[in-house]
Amino acid sequence: MKIAVFAGDGIGPEVTAQALRVLDVLALPDLTLFEGDVGAIAYRRHGHPLPQETIDMAKASDAVLFGAVGDPSCDDLPRAHRPEQAILGLRKELDLFANLRPARTFDGLEHLSPLGAERALQFDMMIVRELTGDVYFGEKGERKNAAGEREGWDMMSYSESEIRRIANIAFDIADQSQSYSACIDSVDKANVLETSRVWREVVTEVAKERWSEMPPLRHMYVDNAAMQMVTNPNQFGVILTGNLFGDILSDLASACVGSIGLLASASLGERQTEYGTFGLYEPIHGSAPDIAGQGKANPVAAVLSLAMLLRHSLGREAEAVRVEHAVEGILADGVFGGDLGGSASTEEIGDAIVRKLLTIS
Ligand code: IPM
Ligand code: MG
Repeated sequence: MKIAVFAGDGIGPEVTAQALRVLDVLALPDLTLFEGDVGAIAYRRHGHPLPQETIDMAKASDAVLFGAVGDPSCDDLPRAHRPEQAILGLRKELDLFANLRPARTFDGLEHLSPLGAERALQFDMMIVRELTGDVYFGEKGERKNAAGEREGWDMMSYSESEIRRIANIAFDIADQSQSYSACIDSVDKANVLETSRVWREVVTEVAKERWSEMPPLRHMYVDNAAMQMVTNPNQFGVILTGNLFGDILSDLASACVGSIGLLASASLGERQTEYGTFGLYEPIHGSAPDIAGQGKANPVAAVLSLAMLLRHSLGREAEAVRVEHAVEGILADGVFGGDLGGSASTEEIGDAIVRKLLTIS
């Protein structure tokens, strides 16, 4: 089993180090780790945020464990050299079109949710975000408009095949899951966008092909979905959406569960490895340069990303569950970093997870 580790910038290396300690404790046989550069650190070392050797390393591995990219010192660089291009480039190069972002409230953290404890307790959803299309990867540019002003533009589009494959992933998850409520919500802006009109039609077609009876599918406008997520989260199970709406809704979801430092993500493609589906795993938080190097970052999202890696790419469900239980355990014990109103350092949270893991068989 080969894992490529791209820790990246800011707090990326600190939180990834804790995930690797957890991996070490699991003592999986025949595991090899490779380290590669991404983001601002890669730009400084190799002149590019996503060097070819990093891409090659990812392609030769069974899974990528990713930290974070982003560095304010790069803000003035041309877009192609900015750190974010590393993650966008990897998603595209590796065809990781399916981004799974589970969001739920952990026991003992209800009080941290701005929704209030009662609604927070109902928060348990899987956001399935399309990741290689939409306005993110459409043609873009700057031009002069008729009045001679500068005008930025970005092309939004979704093809039928792109919509089909992500819809099928969301439907598979809904089919297989015991924990998400029966309903699937496809989120779009079909009252305004042609892209969304096609999205809605294709999603409906795929649902009809899979379910002969009434498909357990609703369509919801993104503005309404954002409001409903806050006012009535209980109704959501699997949310299927495009790249841009999924980006925004997943940050909203992370705020609802109390901290962005808690949420993990998996980005999957079609490639199967010997052990599972090839994928890239990253916390949904960014590089947080303001707290980088101070031991203040919460490593929980990175550790939970490792759990997703074990599950989806290495076929190690039992170990994935063990890691998740260890994290739930330390949160229930009140081991909190600054983001959760506590004072435990990144390393102390890692220590606690490792200790807890050793008590769980
Ligand atoms: C995310 C991030 C990225 C995105 C950025 C860093 C390009 O916000 O993974 O949600 O917009 O996809
Ligand atoms: Mg985002």
